Amino acid sequence: MSERMRLAIQSKGRLADGSLELLGKAGVRFNNSRDALWRPAANFDLDLMLVRDDDIPGLVLGGAADYGIVGENVLAELQAGDPRFSELEIVLPLEFASCRLDVATPVARGWSSLTDLDGQRIATSYPALTRAAFKDAGIDVEIISMNGSVEVAPRLGIADAICDLVSSGATLKANNLASIATLLESQAVLIRPKSGRTSATDRIAETLMDRLRGVLASAQ
Ligand code: PRP
Ligand code: ZN
Ligand code: MG
Repeated sequence: MSERMRLAIQSKGRLADGSLELLGKAGVRFNNSRDALWRPAANFDLDLMLVRDDDIPGLVLGGAADYGIVGENVLAELQAGDPRFSELEIVLPLEFASCRLDVATPVARGWSSLTDLDGQRIATSYPALTRAAFKDAGIDVEIISMNGSVEVAPRLGIADAICDLVSSGATLKANNLASIATLLESQAVLIRPKSGRTSATDRIAETLMDRLRGVLASAQ
């Protein structure tokens, strides 16, 4: 039986299209698949696993997938909250889905630095990273965890500021918010466990990474 590499990617959302596009540029072709979870490559020893981005680090850590493509923001949030995730490593930055994790405040408040937020409430889908950043800065804030639409929290009166991903800046602008600090610069990255991998999947992964490096180099 020949070994195949199981690569977890986001099924839909910020990284989904970019992941497939990059693999396509690397010459990997995929058959149409009726299976919503698995998508086998036609010309490569590779099976894509299509899942929620937030689940990718856990699936790679637990061995359900060999490698994963995920935003650094997702990996960093899990690592900030649970030391087990430090067993994962970034093998290759993939240079798409660039964004920042920013603290943003209502323009009308006139706040300009993190110290202005002492005693305030911060809404975020990144509670561990946000808590750690304010703790490091010695600023006491209350963290309000939200799963999405964080940008509406100040208008709803449930938070005074937010910490969320910023890409084009359109979401902040539409909600009269402005960035005052960047906690993290993020892009899509290829991850794997630091140990316990099989040499067969690593050989396949090395071939894939050579191709990906070629695509990235020619895009410079
Ligand atoms: C992120 C973030 C903002 C938006 C920022 O959401 O939460 O809503 O993108 O992008 P912009 O600066 O280009 O406006 P995402 O699309 O990841 O969806 P989610 O909030 O449902 O996770
Ligand atoms: Zn997500
Ligand atoms: Mg959003």
